[in-house]
Amino acid sequence: MRRKLAAGNWKMNGTRAALGALEALSRAHADPSVDILICPPATLLAEAVEAVAAFPLAIGGQDCHAEIAGAHTGDISAEMLLDAGATAVILGHSERREAYGETSEAVRAKAKSAQAVGLTTLICVGESLTQREAQNTLDIIGAQLALSIPDTSTAENCVIAYEPCWAIGTGLTPTPAQIAEVHGFIRATLTARFADAGDMRLLYGGSVKPGNAAEIFGIGDVDGALVGGASLSPADFSPIIKTLEAAL
Ligand code: PGA
Repeated sequence: MRRKLAAGNWKMNGTRAALGALEALSRAHADPSVDILICPPATLLAEAVEAVAAFPLAIGGQDCHAEIAGAHTGDISAEMLLDAGATAVILGHSERREAYGETSEAVRAKAKSAQAVGLTTLICVGESLTQREAQNTLDIIGAQLALSIPDTSTAENCVIAYEPCWAIGTGLTPTPAQIAEVHGFIRATLTARFADAGDMRLLYGGSVKPGNAAEIFGIGDVDGALVGGASLSPADFSPIIKTLEAAL
């Protein structure tokens, strides 16, 4: 049985003023029947961990370097995330693949490093609109899966998020049939490679809102969501969590 996961990606949003809202979210979900993960900016990690200490909510990073330490100005290692109290890290988000030319090989190296220190890796894959229109979606996702996921991945330490680039922050979402097709493909691809693929969690991400959550969570093989914009406010994220709980 795969435990559902509602993950929030704050991206480059949030100062210490946002910690109050995080505490409010924790209090509102003190006994959740799904896993809840918030990935705030790195500056807030340690304080976010403290803010939710009395609650089952988990805190994660948004990226890490593949090396554990060294001369990498501006970067943060998996060990540093762990030290700050994070239990997970998002890797290979399309915004990083696009803005920093992050390749799937680089994502795999980061994921290997994160898993080695005991972090759960949320590895993102997704096609661009051009790739979808050219009917290359499954080829692109297949290549990203093959190269981004390290062999050390298990159902315990690895979660895959399908995030079509064109759905992120746009208000556009794929049809349920399109999500089901890609999630089915991801499950089949993982099954060919990992013995415990049936237990690996697959999230959908891209413009998940309170208004479309029920439809998305009703799709087979969708084990939760990676939520950007709507995770910034408890007024939006809380109903998404409740909808996921209701979808059990
Ligand atoms: P969004 O972002 O929910 O704002 O579309 C999702 C993501 O980038 O993880």
